[in-house]
Amino acid sequence: MSLGQRLKKQNATVAVDPPAAPAKPVPSAAPAEVPAVATAKPRSGQAEKRAAGRASAAKAAPISLEQRRAQKPPRKNDKLQELKFRIHTRLFEVLDLARADEMNEETNGEEVVAATQKILAEEGVALTKEERQRLLREIKDEVFGLGPIEPLLRDPSVNDILVNGPKQIYVERAGKLELTHARFRDDAHLLRIIERVVSLIGRRIDESSPMVDARLEDGSRGNAIIAPLALDGPSMSIRRFTADKLDHEDMIRLGSMTPELVATLRAAVLLALNIVVSGGTGSGKTTLLNILSSFIPEDERIVTIEDSAELQLRQEHVVRLETRPANLEGRGQIGQRELLVNTLRMRPDRIIVGECRAGEALDMLQAMNTGHDGSLTTVHANTPRDALSRLEVMVAMSGIELPRMAVRAQIASAIDIVIQQQRLSDGSRKVTSVQEIVGLEGEVMTMQEIFTLERDGVSEDGTVLARLVPTGVRPRFMEKLEQEGIELPDELFKPPASGGTDLG
Ligand SMILES: Nc1ncnc2c1ncn2[C@@H]1O[C@H](COP(=O)(O)OP(=O)(O)OP(=O)(O)O)[C@@H](O)[C@H]1O
Ligand SMILES: [Mg+2]
Repeated sequence: MSLGQRLKKQNATVAVDPPAAPAKPVPSAAPAEVPAVATAKPRSGQAEKRAAGRASAAKAAPISLEQRRAQKPPRKNDKLQELKFRIHTRLFEVLDLARADEMNEETNGEEVVAATQKILAEEGVALTKEERQRLLREIKDEVFGLGPIEPLLRDPSVNDILVNGPKQIYVERAGKLELTHARFRDDAHLLRIIERVVSLIGRRIDESSPMVDARLEDGSRGNAIIAPLALDGPSMSIRRFTADKLDHEDMIRLGSMTPELVATLRAAVLLALNIVVSGGTGSGKTTLLNILSSFIPEDERIVTIEDSAELQLRQEHVVRLETRPANLEGRGQIGQRELLVNTLRMRPDRIIVGECRAGEALDMLQAMNTGHDGSLTTVHANTPRDALSRLEVMVAMSGIELPRMAVRAQIASAIDIVIQQQRLSDGSRKVTSVQEIVGLEGEVMTMQEIFTLERDGVSEDGTVLARLVPTGVRPRFMEKLEQEGIELPDELFKPPASGGTDLG
């Protein structure tokens, strides 16, 4: 079923906003079907200031005064927006709602266009050809898609779409946040679009359950949070799903990895070492996990466990599992932990957990220590050492009480390598460190760094000058590699100063 088809059902109930459609929309009137809006507080002066403060704190790139001025759309635009909403409301009176479920842009696009043209003629509005085309596109986005953010979803250069209330929409492009001109008309409009997204996964969002993780049909990951938790209007964050995930060659081209690192990690995956990718939000952990997974040999059975299926493995023998959120009654939730326990009964050669967040860490470590080598996961942490501490905390979250040292010993024997991924100040994403876990010395986990990011300041245009270089430490797993007959030249680990390759 297409997005349009699935959304249409929702349209049938919400699009008649308001039910007895007035000729002119009344901004303050909330549609009867979205009760949360009726109680959504209007922005107070304070809230406005808080929002402005947060916006300036959140932005990675400074936004110029001109850009801020440009935020305010010209008046003609406002009029077009009003017209668009009037048409949208009337469209649903005109169109045959009995067929709502079957409608999608491909088959019903023309019908919507014709109905719109008719309404335009009745309204007697004079539009230029350009305005008319734009209006038609926007109407179609309203009817079949996610309204004002639909163009952003179509833009392949956009990674994230961050909606902070109806009037402030940021996107992330090439690692940088940018404020866009896109706008929702008001809280009610934004909420209606959020409800659409949420209804796709059979959930609902309202005051009693004001935050929801959702997945768009194209695989993009979304989160929405509304009043009373979100103070300044409904908020939605979308991580765009990229069908063409970056591969290791892209990473080398982008300067995120070096050929030497790729060769080392490929060998480590072949050797079935247990690897943790560590990094902050949006640092590229999942992308790197996908690349590591691509090194797994064809003849191994892979089971992936994710909250929202993002990994795209090219191998044939893959079983993909996804967690299930609780249903409307708050029941039926199946978490990563349960999936992991089930996976162990599925005779996996490799287990890939999209992101370790909580108690599943314990089961993952136990799996790694009981013969399920070659497992891969990611952890949200700022340094490799933090990643190990996070794992300790996550094990405690499993609810099973274990002595601290026992947990540490498990971690030290289970994890072989931690790769740190980071988004740098220029927006680029890079591997900044690769560390091998050596063992436990007393109470301290010992690690040795094999690759490190050498920083050389920042160029005039803001580019971070940095290169990933070997530290000169020969990894311990080299011996194992030799036993397995996997070749990896010692030269890979020579730092540039001592005659190794200059990795630039
Ligand atoms: N090395 C890279 N160079 C450029 N872009 C990258 C790189 N790695 C990842 N990206 C892009 O950055 C975005 C975030 O990547 P990814 O989803 O892998 O991050 P993440 O750390 O898993 O995020 P989250 O914390 O939200 O799970 C994606 O759009 C991805 O295509
Ligand atoms: Mg991720």
